[in-house]
Amino acid sequence: MKVHNSDQLIERINRLKQQKRAVILAHYYTRPEVQQVADFLGDSLALSVKAQNIDADVILFAGVHFMAETAKVLCPQKKVLIPCPEAGCSLADSCQADEFDKFIAEHPGHTVVSYVNTTVEVKALTDVCCTSSNALKVIQSIPADRPIIFGPDQHLGSYIKRLTGRDNMLLWHGCCHVHDKFAVERLREAKVKYPEAKVVVHPECREVVVAEADYVGSTAGILEYCRKSDSRQFIVMTESGIITEMERLMPDKEFIPGPANALCDGACNTCEYMKMVNLENIAECLENESPEIHLDEEIRRKAERSILNMISIK
Ligand code: 13P
Ligand code: SF4
Repeated sequence: MKVHNSDQLIERINRLKQQKRAVILAHYYTRPEVQQVADFLGDSLALSVKAQNIDADVILFAGVHFMAETAKVLCPQKKVLIPCPEAGCSLADSCQADEFDKFIAEHPGHTVVSYVNTTVEVKALTDVCCTSSNALKVIQSIPADRPIIFGPDQHLGSYIKRLTGRDNMLLWHGCCHVHDKFAVERLREAKVKYPEAKVVVHPECREVVVAEADYVGSTAGILEYCRKSDSRQFIVMTESGIITEMERLMPDKEFIPGPANALCDGACNTCEYMKMVNLENIAECLENESPEIHLDEEIRRKAERSILNMISIK
């Protein structure tokens, strides 16, 4: 029977979590009410590490498909549930495994680094994964004279290239449709309107936007910067869902959602895939223990190696 009241849904989810020894992992970009039922909220790196060490029989991943796949790669014996399997990712979609495989074959001798925002098949073709939190460390761990293929996010790749000065990095030309739309002209207008505000930017944004930043980093890095900063006001150039956690942790500070380009109606700083996860599909998924992630074992093992290679880089 379906219940639509959110307090009742939250109660039902909490009861099911106990009954099934289940935990809910959620990304910062999910809906506020989804973040409320999460046992662990984090960025892509923290969620991967957490999945690896979790004490539970069932993991429900409140996030997009590649995140639940990553959890299953790291915890093959656990049941990994995804409340909305249609919740994809434009960045992961911008790199199809067969095309990436061809690109790698055309450039022999390169170390292949992939952002975690990829399918399990792309991870299986990868030497070492990275996230926006650790991309710099991962690239610095590779000998300077070794050429690199970096995929799929061209903006993160070119940001790391600028930071390291490495000209032997070949970039795959993918991007996230949300971060790609943040607009520099409108950001400059916002800076005039809020002259005291610090600008925090995710490295999936375009280079011209990154150039305007007071701080560039992953969602967890941005949260940490805002916590430590003496400033009271921030313009947030990443998906707007993170503002829920910002306001929870820092109720005395003001967070202004970053502006997207003029063609947008204002909702472009929102990832529609992340918002597909809601209390109803979480409750149904826990109740039915379905949909569940299943992976081909050979692909899983190859993908696991690239994720563990990443986690081992301290
Ligand atoms: P992080 O979690 O690494 O900040 O990445 C953001 C993102 O786009 C996840 O989809
Ligand atoms: Fe993918 Fe972008 Fe949505 Fe993150 S915000 S899940 S990168 S589409």
